[in-house]
Amino acid sequence: MFKVITHNHGKFREIEKIVSKAEMLEMEYPEIQTNSLESVVDFALNYLASRIEGNFIIDDSGLFIPALNDFPGVYSAYVFETIGNDGILCLMEGKKDRRAYFKTVIGLRYRGYNFKFIGICHGEITEEPHGSEGFGYDPIFRPEGYDKTFAEMSVGEKNKISHRGKALRKLRGFLERMGEI
Ligand code: IMP
Repeated sequence: MFKVITHNHGKFREIEKIVSKAEMLEMEYPEIQTNSLESVVDFALNYLASRIEGNFIIDDSGLFIPALNDFPGVYSAYVFETIGNDGILCLMEGKKDRRAYFKTVIGLRYRGYNFKFIGICHGEITEEPHGSEGFGYDPIFRPEGYDKTFAEMSVGEKNKISHRGKALRKLRGFLERMGEI
């Protein structure tokens, strides 16, 4: 079994669909202030390694909007809690360039070593929220080539194209090569 350290049930649902030997463990860890998701994950893996027995998985993700100089990026969690989707839509008012991308960095602590698996999904910010599935920024993000938002998709459909789905399939490939799953 791989412990997934998160409080986010939506995230865990997506993870367990691809890595079925996953169990959720709700535990706090510091998210350092830096400009890359990779550094957040490196720090958290080392912090948790001295507190958790065995192998575990973490996920740090962010929404990057070029028209806002990649905001909210590494601050996505704080921005979601404070101004939320309505706040992002306000900031996007009048912007012609509505492109955005999600990035996930999955951190794996495995047999005493750290590994990272990365996934990116390009798309755009909608004019209004649509849908009630998923979590976080899902209602305002429409992936490239689709006419619906992540919040209008099932977990399986989102996983096929999402940042997290891509990172998780890399993780699963690694675990398969290691004979773990
Ligand atoms: P974190 O990875 O938990 O730090 O997530 C940062 C912020 O981005 C949180 O507010 C999440 O709700 C949001 N977020 C992370 N992944 C996704 C996603 O797949 N869809 C929509 N929002 C997400």
